[in-house]
Amino acid sequence: MNFELTEEQRQIWQWAKEFADQEIAPVAAINDQDSKFDFDLLKKIADQGFFGAILPEEYGGQGIDHISYALMTEEIARVCSSTRTLFSVQISLVEKPIWYFGTEEQKKNYLPRLATGEIIGCFGLTEPNAGSDAGNQQTMATPDGDYYVLNGQKTWISNGCISQVALIIAQTDKSKGHKGMCAFLVETDTPGFSTREIKPKLGLRASITSELFLDNVRVHKSQMLGNPGEGFKVAMYCLDQGRFSVAAGSVGVSQACIDISTRYAMEREAFGQKIGEFQMLQQLIADMAADCEAGRFLVLHAADLKDKGVRNTRETSMAKLFCAEAAIRASNSAVQIFGGYGFSEEYPAARYYRDARVLNLYEGTSQIHRLIIAQDELGIRPANGPGSPMTPLDRLSPRVPLPARI
Ligand code: CAA
Repeated sequence: MNFELTEEQRQIWQWAKEFADQEIAPVAAINDQDSKFDFDLLKKIADQGFFGAILPEEYGGQGIDHISYALMTEEIARVCSSTRTLFSVQISLVEKPIWYFGTEEQKKNYLPRLATGEIIGCFGLTEPNAGSDAGNQQTMATPDGDYYVLNGQKTWISNGCISQVALIIAQTDKSKGHKGMCAFLVETDTPGFSTREIKPKLGLRASITSELFLDNVRVHKSQMLGNPGEGFKVAMYCLDQGRFSVAAGSVGVSQACIDISTRYAMEREAFGQKIGEFQMLQQLIADMAADCEAGRFLVLHAADLKDKGVRNTRETSMAKLFCAEAAIRASNSAVQIFGGYGFSEEYPAARYYRDARVLNLYEGTSQIHRLIIAQDELGIRPANGPGSPMTPLDRLSPRVPLPARI
């Protein structure tokens, strides 16, 4: 087991850190206060080539590995979770599934433009009555010659109103359950497609969150992503990627909370000494630091498996669960350390606290992740699929053999 980053990974981490500090940090609080999606910032991110981070060069990408991608994601989230959401959705929920499931024509058509930020994408799975129960899709795709006609509504879709392409999951035959679902690449200027922004929100105020409406939207069958009936599989693949980036982003939030809290604790004085010298405060700092470091290792382990092409639903779920909850705890501790000033929007803790609250809601609530992990541990439903290869850590600590499926 090698805990060293390569020189290239370090350089990418540094590149993202500098960009985050120089370009995102100065506008993060202002955009949050104004609930403003920052198109100038989007352009700067695009000009850096960040949106092409993980795609291979043949599709206009940088071809970096998942460890570097996780570190970039962490750095962006360290200064702004709204910006991290834009970055994550574009790469993990749109580019990666097109790269993995797309036909060559789809890849050539969309990936280079997504990589440069010329177009933005969104992922349309959640519906008013299909949140955690993602298999309960009500959006219908009805075949009509060479087309499918899509009707339905999606909600809580990050990037929705600013996207040119939407990855939409829809049902073609309710009697088939999740095996009747299909995924489509829907261009958002197709007649019948419309959006509405959801605001005001508790956090992520500088990120666009939308409802999508599909009213007789005609989509050519060549726009199907994956095979007919593979929609649920595509959706779950998307979530395996998206959850990973949320986990990495959560580590960034935890790190930011440590950074602002330690700085404040060594400036602010009470009872004649720095508040950082009080042991009760040190306990908060120690727990934040241990959580952050543990979470970072969980993310990097999932990243390593992704780079090795090993199925990692289980490890990604663990990283998402742990890191999201750790970030929420860290932001709560940051508010506590700032005391009354933690309750003021003039200090940074409040934004981290509000932004962190979504981390264990979107891309699978903590309850859904506990379900995935517990069912795997109990042998009820192997998270990495039946007969999945054991991960490196499993080999170190083999689990008690259980019946394959009970
Ligand atoms: N990869 C590949 N296949 C998978 C899979 C995965 N990660 N997870 C499940 N599958 C397969 C199963 O193997 C099974 O296949 P078979 O029928 O061939 O055996 C099939 O999918 C159905 O699986 P389940 O029986 O486990 O399905 P389920 O209906 O019980 O649901 C669930 C399982 C884990 C609860 C799932 O519904 C889920 O993850 N729900 C949460 C949804 C979610 O995270 N939503 C967030 C949306 S994104 C967002 O927040 C918006 C945004 O813009 C950021």
